[in-house]
Amino acid sequence: MITLALSKGRIFDETLPLLKAAGIEVLEDPEKSRKLILTTNQPDVRVVLVRATDVPTYVQYGGADLGITGKDTLLEHGGDGLYQPLDLQIAKCRISVAVRSDFDYASAVRQGSRLKVATKYVAIAREFFAAKGVHVDLIKLYGSMELAPLTGLADAIVDLVSTGNTLKANQLVEVEHIMDISSRLVVNQAALKLKQAPIRKIIDAFAAALAKQAQA
Ligand code: PRP
Repeated sequence: MITLALSKGRIFDETLPLLKAAGIEVLEDPEKSRKLILTTNQPDVRVVLVRATDVPTYVQYGGADLGITGKDTLLEHGGDGLYQPLDLQIAKCRISVAVRSDFDYASAVRQGSRLKVATKYVAIAREFFAAKGVHVDLIKLYGSMELAPLTGLADAIVDLVSTGNTLKANQLVEVEHIMDISSRLVVNQAALKLKQAPIRKIIDAFAAALAKQAQA
């Protein structure tokens, strides 16, 4: 049995065409059922639904053989025990620093002020500001980061930005682009040895589908 860990939403939806290219069709709709293990048209392939931040953990410890996870999540988790063969170019967005539109970020940084930064991405934020030589107090949040500068909890946030609509709706502006994000295929290293043929088949089919997309 090959177990693939996915999270619901954008990653799940954007993975379906890649799975199809590998001859795998998920037989259940996660939006219509509470089931966490989904069957596919391949009797030896199943999909497990986990929280996005848990995908690397499932794959690292062998709860799943493969998984698809954002670069943001991987950087926060660390890559131990994970083989990362492919950037799937899906669920693309960026990770940025944003502040209230009336906050003078450039001056704060120039003057060497200590910035209060709220984020779910503590490791990414720590590394980014350390490289710039900016002193920060990091405040870990689990969601609704945009609220932090509006309530005085923080001066800035480090968060994912896709369309920019959430920032705009909350009168926040992007002041730094930290990095581009997309989703990666991650594979349990032991599984890759023990179940080499079926896992390679999936990796190769994904790679072929990506190459075809790149040509289009
Ligand atoms: C992400 C992110 C922003 C939003 C950005 O949240 O945290 O809030 O998307 O998208 P936009 O630029 O297109 O408006 P997500 O919906 O993934 O949920 P989360 O808050 O649980 O991370």
